Amino acid sequence: MSELSGRRAVVTGGAQGLGEGMARALAAAGASVVVADVKDDLGAKVAADLGEGHGFVHLDVTDDSGWASALTAAVGELGGLDILVNNAGVEITSLITELDPADVRTMLEVNVLGTSLGLKHGLRTMRPGGAAGQGGTIINVSSVAATIAFPGIAVYSATKSAVDRLTRVAAMESGKLGYGVRVNCVYPGLVPTEMGAGLASDVAALGLFESPQAAVEGVVGLTPAGRLGTVEDMADAVVFLATDRARFITGVGLPVDGGMGM
Ligand SMILES: NC(=O)c1ccc[n+]([C@@H]2O[C@H](COP(=O)([O-])OP(=O)(O)OC[C@H]3O[C@@H](n4cnc5c(N)ncnc54)[C@H](O)[C@@H]3O)[C@@H](O)[C@H]2O)c1
Repeated sequence: MSELSGRRAVVTGGAQGLGEGMARALAAAGASVVVADVKDDLGAKVAADLGEGHGFVHLDVTDDSGWASALTAAVGELGGLDILVNNAGVEITSLITELDPADVRTMLEVNVLGTSLGLKHGLRTMRPGGAAGQGGTIINVSSVAATIAFPGIAVYSATKSAVDRLTRVAAMESGKLGYGVRVNCVYPGLVPTEMGAGLASDVAALGLFESPQAAVEGVVGLTPAGRLGTVEDMADAVVFLATDRARFITGVGLPVDGGMGM
């Protein structure tokens, strides 16, 4: 249970949902964790719950200078940085024929720009000569949506495909330039967090399924494991990728979807 003891981690979007679960699981595995989120009250509560040695920092992942100051604060508080989880994300459901450019921009900003800036500042911080400078690992949160065609989430799926490509190029640059940072991503299946439950309601409201329950049953029907994912399923996969057990794994996307995307 202490495989990550002595390691220092930052989890974006850690105030609730999958990110909160990842922060809790990393802490349970021995890491010191800083939760980074725009939801200050919820994020600070998660950090307080984790207890001594953990913290919260305000971060809007779309803000370049915000990243610089958040990681400076996290390195100051934790005494270094070994693990960055780029989990913050947004999903706005729409048929392609009804797309609102503002929603498209929001998803591009948070999911693509946010993850890109996380990679930028994470690599700068962890590479030799950086404020932490000891190498480490970055785990991006993509989605099963990057690997299948599910109706109502075209732009979201496109942004998560972008996260997948960002991951691979970042792993390549990190290797070629000797940063000592492994970079991977996970493709979570549907988990009934605020986002996941909202998605089931939204696709039903669009008439794609008879009801939110029918949408969930549709997803389960496409899933060989025969159930939805849980927060813990996703968090355990992130912990694995963060540990030395994954020491020779970089540049991959790991499906954590009960087989839905195979
Ligand atoms: N829940 C699912 O079914 C599912 C499936 C596949 C992938 N994912 C991905 O997992 C990640 C977490 O999803 P979730 O279900 O926990 O969602 P959620 O909506 O419950 O939580 C998202 C968190 O991200 C934070 N966030 C949003 N915009 C931010 C910004 N600009 N800066 C900093 N923080 C920001 C929110 O405040 C919130 O705490 C997302 O990237 C999502 O796309 C979720």
